[in-house]
Amino acid sequence: MNTEVMKISSVSEDIEKIRRAADVIKKGGLVVFPTETVYGLGADATNAEAVKSIFTAKGRPSDNPLIIHIADPRDAEKYTVTNELYYKLAERFMPGPLTVILESKSCIPSVTRASLPTVAVRCPENAIARSLITEAGVPIAAPSANLSGTPSPTSAAHVIDDMTDRVDVIIDGGDCDFGLESTIVKIENDGSLTLLRPGKITVDDLCAVAENVSIADAVLDKIAKDAPVLSPGMKYRHYAPSAPLELIDGDPKSAADYILKNNISRIAIISYDEDVAFFREKVQHAAIYSFGSRFDETEQAHLLFSLLRLADKENYEKIYAPLPGKSGVGLALFNRMIRAAAYTIVKV
Ligand code: TXA
Ligand code: MG
Repeated sequence: MNTEVMKISSVSEDIEKIRRAADVIKKGGLVVFPTETVYGLGADATNAEAVKSIFTAKGRPSDNPLIIHIADPRDAEKYTVTNELYYKLAERFMPGPLTVILESKSCIPSVTRASLPTVAVRCPENAIARSLITEAGVPIAAPSANLSGTPSPTSAAHVIDDMTDRVDVIIDGGDCDFGLESTIVKIENDGSLTLLRPGKITVDDLCAVAENVSIADAVLDKIAKDAPVLSPGMKYRHYAPSAPLELIDGDPKSAADYILKNNISRIAIISYDEDVAFFREKVQHAAIYSFGSRFDETEQAHLLFSLLRLADKENYEKIYAPLPGKSGVGLALFNRMIRAAAYTIVKV
């Protein structure tokens, strides 16, 4: 397949290009598009054949369901059974980086939702994404536009690396604002909310709207083999860096002592800006990647996936990174990083 890379800087100036990409969607093709979280690999969510080709392009297991993207939160009515809490969440957080799981209507083919009775809906804030959905006139099913097993793409360059010749169009809309995937919540039958994947919309944000919010076990820890899986994506090892990643829980000095004691030659350290000079001085043979200020979780979220992709290209024997806290946006970082590290956390 020949992939066209379409550079789009403004919706109004480039509307003809967006319409052309929307036509590709309408005809059952695949279009990668930017969102405020990560790039998505889109197809018409109501076209089973088109959706199947998403799974093929990504190498994604068919039992892992997709999010459907809509341009207006009210469009959820057409595809799902909505309720009061959905509208409360929508009013506060949509358009934006929140995905809500609701009971599906039958117009969403079972391949899109991996045969589940529910479907995930999200109304992205990114102007290009919303214009593409509006012009296509259909909901767009889209997982993150990475090959299964690589970090989600946050720039067009990442997508070009993974998806060239696998999709019809890649829309290059620049870097994604946030850089980690959307917060996913499920509205339970009793009206409570379960957080399935943390993101920019934090637990505190959700608690301001819903009375009863619980956090699925898999958000914070490895799930036991026989535990029920609330979100199929939780059971896959999302991303395994080519070098093992280890998360260090402790101050920089103890971390440096621990790293030196390990005595490994080709290593990288992902370090908060405040500690970069210290690690450069203390662990001279390590490559140091700067991860933003220790106090700026938004910056860390923005950098995480591209740092992991960069480090992956260098064939390190080991990568060390600080263990994030679990409050605010830190929870999203914690959730992605413990998976990337295959749950290897060292207390120093
Ligand atoms: O920010 C995002 O959400 C990005 C952009 C492109 O919108 N999309 C994204 O999609 O991250 P994906 O497919 O990479 O992750 C969606 C997650 C998967 O872990 C999947 O298992 C879960 O959502 N999911 C989808 N439908 C579900 C459902 N009906 N019930 C439970 N989990 C569901
Ligand atoms: Mg993904």
